[in-house]
Amino acid sequence: MSTSRPPRLAIVGATGAVGREMMTILEQRRSRHASLRLFASPRSAGSTLPYRGEPVTVEALVPGALRDVDVALFSAGSSISKSLGPEARAAGVTVIDNSSAFRADPACPLIIPEVNPAALESVRGKPAIIANPNCSTIILLMALAPLRAAFGLRRAVVSTYQAVSGAGAKAMDELVEQSREVLAGREARPSVFQEPCAFNLFSHNSAVDPATGQNVEEQKMLSESRRILGDDALALTATCVRVPVLRAHSQSVNITLERAASEKQVREVLAGAPGVTILDDRAANRFPTPLKASGGDDVLVGRIRPDLSQPREGKRAGEPIAPDQPTLGFEMFIAGDQLRKGAALNAIQIAEMLFGSMR
Ligand SMILES: NC(=O)c1ccc[n+]([C@@H]2O[C@H](COP(=O)([O-])OP(=O)(O)OC[C@H]3O[C@@H](n4cnc5c(N)ncnc54)[C@H](OP(=O)(O)O)[C@@H]3O)[C@@H](O)[C@H]2O)c1
Repeated sequence: MSTSRPPRLAIVGATGAVGREMMTILEQRRSRHASLRLFASPRSAGSTLPYRGEPVTVEALVPGALRDVDVALFSAGSSISKSLGPEARAAGVTVIDNSSAFRADPACPLIIPEVNPAALESVRGKPAIIANPNCSTIILLMALAPLRAAFGLRRAVVSTYQAVSGAGAKAMDELVEQSREVLAGREARPSVFQEPCAFNLFSHNSAVDPATGQNVEEQKMLSESRRILGDDALALTATCVRVPVLRAHSQSVNITLERAASEKQVREVLAGAPGVTILDDRAANRFPTPLKASGGDDVLVGRIRPDLSQPREGKRAGEPIAPDQPTLGFEMFIAGDQLRKGAALNAIQIAEMLFGSMR
């Protein structure tokens, strides 16, 4: 299709946590599109969702339903993407997919617009499936990629604090409902997660590989980061945990750079990184939180400080280091809205890169 006229858009999974956020973002960005069609399961067909003040009817996603669409934003799970994504591409549709179905497929670019926009060029002007990375991976790389580009990266150790909405709209309902039950003195009965999520936290709910001990979320953070950064040897290890937060994922990040940098230089790089906001007020003890990140586009970065445990010539571990003294190890704490930058916003940014007429 011509990219000079606004495209005909569809959201597949419009009633879900990511799908609804896509509609909010299209409204907020005053996105230009010739039409917007909403698809979900047959359970939701015929219901309406408000968009720009008007009710829009949700349609059932049946084979052939996307024929008159230019761009389809898929967020209905891997099996739907696998069964209907290739069919849509064959019908001339550009598919931007939020599931993990195509993230390892070399024919499908895996894109964070601020990090690897050049990888999109191979599919420009032709129907394609473009994969949106895992939400934790996007949030991490928004801060990590600019530092790696500036100073090189020897190793990263990440611990995540992931919101329940990463598991969809039903998981958000479960946290609210369980919180009510516990506060009323009743037992919390899990259904989406196997552990209670209210007043609790637990190792990420994805399956654990019995051989390596890593869960799928941790594996995705490594494999997808390697693909996006084009570095098969990237040394990154993650521990992924769900916390009783409705939306926005947080991460504690410890990095060892390839080339020593001062804290001042690290801050300068992060301050200049697109889509990153530094929130780091030591005097007031104000740093990134999931609530501060919720509803925003930028990934918040704070607690930026040298890792004093790293070996330094003539210094004992724990001894302070001046902000202009170069060192290899750094710590930071980041928070980003995974429904937005980790999913819906990233997908819409990709669509805007391909269809400039949307802006
Ligand atoms: N949540 C996140 O933070 C996040 C981040 C990155 C990626 N993702 C990925 O995005 C996708 C959606 O996640 P979500 O959190 O939005 O899940 P969700 O809240 O559970 O929403 C799922 C959506 O898929 C629709 N759906 C289910 N079965 C369908 C079918 N047979 N045909 C058509 N539509 C169907 C649902 O429609 P009904 O309402 O009719 O059931 C709903 O609109 C998943 O692949 C997820 O891994 C999510």
